Amino acid sequence: MPSPVLTVVEDATEGARIVADGIENLVRSRPDAVLALPTGRTPLPLYDELSRRYRAGRIDFERVRTFNLDEWVGLRPGSPGSYAAFMAEHLFSRVNLRPENCHIPDGAAPDLDAECARYEQLIREAGGIDLAILGIGHNGHIGFNEPGTSFEMRTHVVQVTPETRASNRWAFATDDVPSRAITVGIATILDARAIVLMATGPDKAEVLARALQGEIDPSVPASALRLHPCVQVVADTAAARLLGRSRELTFE
Ligand code: PGA
Repeated sequence: MPSPVLTVVEDATEGARIVADGIENLVRSRPDAVLALPTGRTPLPLYDELSRRYRAGRIDFERVRTFNLDEWVGLRPGSPGSYAAFMAEHLFSRVNLRPENCHIPDGAAPDLDAECARYEQLIREAGGIDLAILGIGHNGHIGFNEPGTSFEMRTHVVQVTPETRASNRWAFATDDVPSRAITVGIATILDARAIVLMATGPDKAEVLARALQGEIDPSVPASALRLHPCVQVVADTAAARLLGRSRELTFE
């Protein structure tokens, strides 16, 4: 089936169930699966659903390994606003993932370039990413790969756009949203064996249409996903409303 495959769901809860089904099946067939995980508001229903399935005995995370897509520069792991704190609160403390199997770039590392290289190496040593779960920013970013980022980039330090900092203001107690982040690169993401992009809400409709049906171009980083053979886009009706039928996109 040509990729991407688009699955349109009623709402975020149904989307979370579908993505959780994929993770449940993967972990059943590969108990030490390697997942790449996003932060932001989009994955919150997914993390709730995974926690529920863990408590119900449906998913065992004992041997699963995870790599987060990104982290702010300058925040100590676990400090408020950090993605490490976000993941601890929304997923890691709620399931039986082992702390040593959960990786997040260290935004407080003294040598950030060395930290980026170390992160890439860790992913390689884990055997690569089996399934990357992504959200999409209003400007089309995936991870923190902002518009203009080459599709060749691997894990690197980025200057976060004012627009993206404003979208992330909700996670911080003050206006002090960091201006830099470490992110896996688009090449790192495209190396994953399978990718799921989640998009929910009317405010994602325009960018989703540009990513899936506009030019494949670094000005819309998520458009790079169309270069990958195994991508599923799970979008609610609000986010999918501008997507027309096309040869490039398989509607499920
Ligand atoms: P959101 O962020 O889930 O909070 O909309 C998505 C993203 O910026 O990747």
